[in-house]
Amino acid sequence: MTISQDDVTGHFSARAATYDRSSSWCTDEELGRLVLDATGPRGSDRVLDVACGTGLVSRLFSGRVAEVVGVDITPEMAEQAKPHLDRLVIAPAEHLPFEDDEFDIVVCRQGIQFMDLPEAVAEMVRVVRPGGSVVVVNLCAYGADDREEYFEVLRLRNPVRRHFFLPEDLRTVLHDAGCSEIELRRYVSVEDVDVWSDNGAIGEDHRESIRAAYRRASGAFRTLHAVREENGTFVDRMLFVVAAGRKP
Ligand SMILES: C[S@@+](CC[C@H](N)C(=O)[O-])C[C@H]1O[C@@H](n2cnc3c(N)ncnc32)[C@H](O)[C@@H]1O
Repeated sequence: MTISQDDVTGHFSARAATYDRSSSWCTDEELGRLVLDATGPRGSDRVLDVACGTGLVSRLFSGRVAEVVGVDITPEMAEQAKPHLDRLVIAPAEHLPFEDDEFDIVVCRQGIQFMDLPEAVAEMVRVVRPGGSVVVVNLCAYGADDREEYFEVLRLRNPVRRHFFLPEDLRTVLHDAGCSEIELRRYVSVEDVDVWSDNGAIGEDHRESIRAAYRRASGAFRTLHAVREENGTFVDRMLFVVAAGRKP
């Protein structure tokens, strides 16, 4: 099945009202701190938050830098980001309506999995100034031993996801877009799978398929994700990778 941008905006408009509480990582302060560490914002910086959603990343920068601009394709999500933004633009990441070299920092958390690649990351690099940072943050499988099972679960939980990553894939994405000095940071987010799957945009059939996937998970998956079962629900330690590169 081909996934269109209308499919993506349909999914996220259904989730907009409850998005911020749909995962523990959404508002996780430690993950937020890692994003700030990776970007090193200064007071004079102009920051672009690509796929800003409800502004959970924008708000990390708000008040610390000279300007925060958000861009997203789902108005129902992005309207909520407005209090944390100097400017909101509704546009696709693949065609950013900004000048070359306009920003000091471009950040995109949980966004590139829905985008045309490599076009979207090339656009992020185009609009950042030479010497500026491009940071992409995404859930990743730990490696070859959990990728098939984890990607199936991720697909069930969000059927409009188009790309699935291992940690080193994020390095490649930035490298191929022309970034240098690429560094990866890891963060493990502890998610109650039943809460995480209750995202407002998938049916009970998908949620039951996710539970079934955890019930039959391989030993390797259970070990890597340190899966715990508590009263019939599962807890998964999900891996985030924060990949930061510099435009030469
Ligand atoms: C999982 S949310 C992430 C929101 C926010 N970055 C965060 O970390 O909470 C994904 C967001 O990506 C946006 N999005 C998906 N594809 C996009 C595209 N091609 N261009 C711009 N935004 C896109 C969606 O509308 C949605 O708001």
